[in-house]
Amino acid sequence: MCGIVGYVGTRRVVPILLEGLRRLEYRGYDSAGLVYSFDNRLVRYRAKGKLANLEAVVDEYIGVASGIGLGHTRWATHGAPTEGNAHPHTDCTGELVVVHNGIIENYNALKKELMAKGHVFTSETDTEVLAHLIEDCLKEKRDLVAAVRAALTLVEGSYAIGVLWAGEPELLVAARNHSPLVMGVAADACYIASDIPALLPFTREVIFLNDREMAVLGRGTYTIQQIDDGSELAKPVSLIDWNASMAEKAGFRHFMLKEIFEQPQAILNTVSGRIVPDTGFVDLPEIGLDYATLDAIDRIALVACGTSWHAALIAKYWIEKWVGIPVEVDIASEFRYRRLLVDERTLTIAISQSGETADTLAGIRRAAQLGSRVLTVCNVVGSTMTREADGVIYTHAGPEIGVASTKAFTSQLAALFLLTLYLGQTRKTIDPITRKKLGLSLIDIAEVIATELPRLQTEISALIEGYYEAKDFLFVGRGLNFPIALEGALKLKEISYIHAEGYAAGELKHGPIALIDREMPVVALVPRDSVYLKTVSNVEEIKARQGRLVLFGTSGDEHLSTLTDDVLYLPDVMEDLNPLLYTIPAQLLAYEIANRRGCDVDQPRNLAKSVTVE
Ligand code: F6R
Repeated sequence: MCGIVGYVGTRRVVPILLEGLRRLEYRGYDSAGLVYSFDNRLVRYRAKGKLANLEAVVDEYIGVASGIGLGHTRWATHGAPTEGNAHPHTDCTGELVVVHNGIIENYNALKKELMAKGHVFTSETDTEVLAHLIEDCLKEKRDLVAAVRAALTLVEGSYAIGVLWAGEPELLVAARNHSPLVMGVAADACYIASDIPALLPFTREVIFLNDREMAVLGRGTYTIQQIDDGSELAKPVSLIDWNASMAEKAGFRHFMLKEIFEQPQAILNTVSGRIVPDTGFVDLPEIGLDYATLDAIDRIALVACGTSWHAALIAKYWIEKWVGIPVEVDIASEFRYRRLLVDERTLTIAISQSGETADTLAGIRRAAQLGSRVLTVCNVVGSTMTREADGVIYTHAGPEIGVASTKAFTSQLAALFLLTLYLGQTRKTIDPITRKKLGLSLIDIAEVIATELPRLQTEISALIEGYYEAKDFLFVGRGLNFPIALEGALKLKEISYIHAEGYAAGELKHGPIALIDREMPVVALVPRDSVYLKTVSNVEEIKARQGRLVLFGTSGDEHLSTLTDDVLYLPDVMEDLNPLLYTIPAQLLAYEIANRRGCDVDQPRNLAKSVTVE
């Protein structure tokens, strides 16, 4: 949700800002803007729409020898996606600029006060109030750091900001509260960014800012202080083990396709070193919870949003089956606002690719207040959730840039399956032989997916010719594959804009079956598992009503090809691991349909990755 990037150093700033924005564009693409300081003036460019529109405007100025600036890519919250609402926003004089990610909740009240003092506003955004507020505070004392601090004490809401002022042209001030912000450091330069990929071409040494902290950056020098009392903080520098090429397309047409194909490696990276193949012993050293604590747990609450919530639904089946602890799964935006029956015997687990999703973060904060221990399954090292939880299980999927989550999802499943085995091990609910068999099957699934991917892509790109113009789709599955039906529908709607719904196959007859006619494609997940016969009966019901069936089933199951011509066969794997395999054709189906319809696969409309607003 909005990306910000800033640089102070000895190199030309504009190419650095544009490169950083390119790597943050997945966070929002309603408008983009940048500002740099030159000859004691601030020079600002803004453009509606994608970054390419901004690049077209600033191109000829790339040679300008400025070494300090800020950039922004916007996901609109307050105010339409116009050039006038694009960041950076300025004060009345045009000498102070602000870029912002978050929401200033009391902006209306502040705006009224500032207008009464004579400030003139030119945008519909909440952000502009920050520029005017800091301008107002500068009247007291011509000191940017003091003015930003004073302004932020009056502000309610979430923000990651970067501020430049022509009065102190060598200084960049940044601050955060409830929106992500990371600093990059190098010998001759300092950087700020909403997310690590923006920094990877320049530095891998980073400092994570916490809520209510601000940073004052110069050319290779910086200080960090508390917003509330100005006290200075010494913070550790972390080394990121991602590299810049991991966030490139590497010859693939889209990041999403590249990330689909990276799944076998992402799963292996997540599992590797955590299972001893000879014994099946599972080791999760970062889990941060000792055996006694895990033994005392009598309930697990899984909290997540979107695709990560689908991973949680699958984990519920696994944990309840193998560990026997009751598991509740909540959408984080619901969990955070209802009466929570969690206590010190509950383990709350946040599942999040980004580790910054506002609702999930708020959910684990509430659970922690009620005494629950908190674990995070997360892909981004150092993200807010990982720092606030008692323990972490990192998924090692590498940077996920495509807005539609793919490799992060299958890596979450791998991590959650590992967690299931680990809990089974500590609580002695899985015997060692079974645990070893399950663990080795998890390792093997990566190889199975790697083998099947090219064939599936070829078959699906041919199959979609008959379906890509459909207006609606249904996805159905039972048991572990019900969440995959939900995930298949989500993938399709978010990138192809086709209306799609996922249902538990047994639920169709309670209403949705009324939708089925000869126009309605229904994707049914029918592996030969413990509920196979039940699912096949549901498929027959759909066929009887002339629904257009696409079946994902087990190789050798000839009955399926009597039901429809459109069957995608998948190898027979251990039932528990079917979700990792069956999600692959669902992802490819969505990808190929969206691509065929000419949709912007990596940057679907209205969406952004890392949802840091409520
Ligand atoms: C869908 C998708 C989203 C995210 C959701 C949670 O493809 O990517 O539904 O899964 O916004 O994001 P994280 O996992 O970062 O908390």
